[in-house]
Amino acid sequence: MVAPRILSGIKPTGRPHLGNYFGMMRPGIEWQDRGEAFYFIADYHALTTVHDPVAMREHTRSVALDFLACGLDPQKAVLFRQSDVPEVTELAWLLTCLTPMPMLENCHAYKDHVAKGKVPSHGLFAYPVLMAADILLYNSNIVPVGRDQKQHVEVTRDLAEKANRIFGPVFTVPEASIVSEVATVIGLDGQKMSKSYNNTIALFEEEKVLRKKVMSITTDSAPMEAPKDPTTSSIVALFRLCAEPAAVATMEDQFRAGGLGYGEFKKRLFEALWERFATFRTRRAELAADPAYLDNVLAEGAARARAVALPTMDRVRKAMGLR
Ligand code: TYM
Repeated sequence: MVAPRILSGIKPTGRPHLGNYFGMMRPGIEWQDRGEAFYFIADYHALTTVHDPVAMREHTRSVALDFLACGLDPQKAVLFRQSDVPEVTELAWLLTCLTPMPMLENCHAYKDHVAKGKVPSHGLFAYPVLMAADILLYNSNIVPVGRDQKQHVEVTRDLAEKANRIFGPVFTVPEASIVSEVATVIGLDGQKMSKSYNNTIALFEEEKVLRKKVMSITTDSAPMEAPKDPTTSSIVALFRLCAEPAAVATMEDQFRAGGLGYGEFKKRLFEALWERFATFRTRRAELAADPAYLDNVLAEGAARARAVALPTMDRVRKAMGLR
């Protein structure tokens, strides 16, 4: 059987958080042993919100470092910067011409923006088409993402199928891969963890900041002696991601039994999180001390990505009558 092509992206809009890690980075790292994995830092997409070039460059490098520190192996997976293969914007235009406006008007990121009374940029509106271009440019079979990106992969599938009907079999039709237990990681306030909600825990938070953030997790006002519901608690939800099953079972039992306050559970969550990322922290510090290594990884990644992208573009241009 031919190894599947796996592809996903992450925006350099700040430091990656637990939602990014459990929703996409960790599954992506697991996929690197099962196929040809391509992961990129989506700087073109980040331009919908990041308009500071210094921050853009810094975030791009720091997201790449986080990914490597967590176990992305550049010998196995291709790690590259989206804008190092600018042909993706050409493909985005070609796909835009096949995209019905209502399909994009129905996309939740755009709808949420409008619902909040904000004026969306054309970039935000067309965001799913650029995502489709990312996925189709590299002939991807599998796209590991969190649940919030499922709709975008469906748009990609629709566009690929439409192009194939019109122009012949030019595109591989991809599938999203979503790990159901971590499809949506909850943030400090109980909503989806997201930089735009300001409720995130970064992967490599400083110890003091991590402790403070964990202690600030929203809870109800149940007194210490009262039984508590582990199924609705953000503390338990986050603890499940980073602790051993036996420790989770104990916490759930103690929630139900009553007699312990939320502060005690938060302390355990802090310790589990700190421990969970300890080896990654050491690795990250080593990687950060050698900027040339990262430059090399990204340069090699760009070359490997272009080697796949350029033949796709030739094929697509020809199929559409452009060359
Ligand atoms: P970004 O940077 O917003 O998110 C990166 C990945 O993290 C996942 N994620 C979550 N998963 C579970 N729980 C959460 N709270 C949570 N928050 C974020 C996202 O689902 C995503 O998988 N648009 C993409 C970037 C992109 C892309 C692509 C992905 C651009 N082109 C092509 C796949 C294929 C995004 O959401 O980035």
